Amino acid sequence: MSTANMIKANLDWANLGFQYRDTGWRYRAKLTDGVWHEEANPTKDMVISEGSQAINYGQQCFEGMKAYTTINGDVVVFRPDMNFARLNQSAARLLMDPIPEEIFMGGLQKLIDHNLAYVPPYGHGASLYIRPLYIGIGDNLGLKPASEYIFTIYCSPVGPYYKNGFKPISLMVSSYDRAAPHGTGNVKVGGNYAAGLIASREAKNAGFDDAIFLDAATRRYIDEAGTSNFFGITADGTLVTPASSSILESITRISLTEVALFLGMNVESRPVALEELGTFVEAGCCGTAAVVTPIGKITSGDRSWTFGDGINAGAQVKKLYDTLIDIQNGKEPAFARWLTKMG
Ligand code: PLP
Ligand code: COI
Repeated sequence: MSTANMIKANLDWANLGFQYRDTGWRYRAKLTDGVWHEEANPTKDMVISEGSQAINYGQQCFEGMKAYTTINGDVVVFRPDMNFARLNQSAARLLMDPIPEEIFMGGLQKLIDHNLAYVPPYGHGASLYIRPLYIGIGDNLGLKPASEYIFTIYCSPVGPYYKNGFKPISLMVSSYDRAAPHGTGNVKVGGNYAAGLIASREAKNAGFDDAIFLDAATRRYIDEAGTSNFFGITADGTLVTPASSSILESITRISLTEVALFLGMNVESRPVALEELGTFVEAGCCGTAAVVTPIGKITSGDRSWTFGDGINAGAQVKKLYDTLIDIQNGKEPAFARWLTKMG
C-alpha cells in the first residue's frame, strides 16, 4: 500500500527534534516458560517486578533504526535485518534468550502498520525512529539471568539528533572509559550508555557538543562517541574507521564504507591513534540517530585538531551524507536492497 495520500499526524515535520513522543501504539510480547505471548494494546507504561534483572543488574539490550517515506510514497525501514542480528548478539552476550525472527520482524510490521500517521512524509528531513527494547523481568534477588523477558518496540517521529542538524560539532576526548576490550562495548546494552553519561555531561559543561572515547586498554586510540562511530578522511580521499573490539559495529558505518567505495573513495579499517587526527582533512561521526554528522574539532586536554575550516561541513562528508540520505529516500537505486518496504 502506498501511503502518499494517507492522513498524517498534525506535526511540524520540518522542525522535529530528537524527542520521545507517545504515538499511542507499540508492539509488546512476553516470553514465559519458553513461549512468546503478544500483549494486546499495551500502553507506554510497563508494570514489572521490582526484582527484575533489567532494572537491578542491567540485563537489557536495545536497538535503534529508522523508517522513511521514499520519494515514491513507500514506507521503508533501513536494514532491519542487521538490527535484528545485532539485537540477538547483544542478547547472547547477556545470556538472554534469542528473539525469534517472526517476533522481531512481525512486531516491526505491526508497529509500522499502526503508526503510519507518524512516519514523516517525504521531503522534510524527518524519520520515524524505532526502538526495539528487550528486558529481563521477574521476581529475583540473586545475580542470575532472568526467567522471563519482555520484548517491546516503540517509536517516535524525529528530526536531527544534534540541534543544528548537518553542522560540524565539537567533541572533547573524555578522561572516562566507556567500555573495556573484552567487555560490552561491541553490543548495544544500556550499561554502556549509563557509563558514558558523565563524559557527555562534562563535555557539554565545557562547551563541547559531546564526548569521544579512547580505547580503555592503552588510551592511545580513538574508539567512538557515545552515540555514534567515528570516521576520518585523509587528503587522498580514504575513509578511515577505527577497528576496535570495544565499539559498536555501526550499521550506518558499515553502509557508509560501501557508499564510499561506490563514490570512488578508498576505505580502511584499522586502529586510529589520537596523534593521527592531524592527518585527516575531514572527520565525522555516524549512526542511526546521528546519521552523518561532520566533526569540526576534537580537543584532548590542551591539544586540538580542526577538520576543514571547522565551521562548514567538508565536501566529502557532505557527499557521503547526501548519498546516504538519497539511499534512504529511495532516490539512489544502487542500494535499494537496503530498504525493506513495510507500508
Ligand atoms: N555507537 C554507539 C555507541 C551507538 O549508540 C550507535 C547507535 O546506534 C552507533 C555507534 C551507531 O550504530 P548504528 O549505525 O547501527 O545506529
Ligand atoms: C541510535 O543511533 O540508534 C542510538 O541508539 C543512539 C541513541 C543514544 C540515541
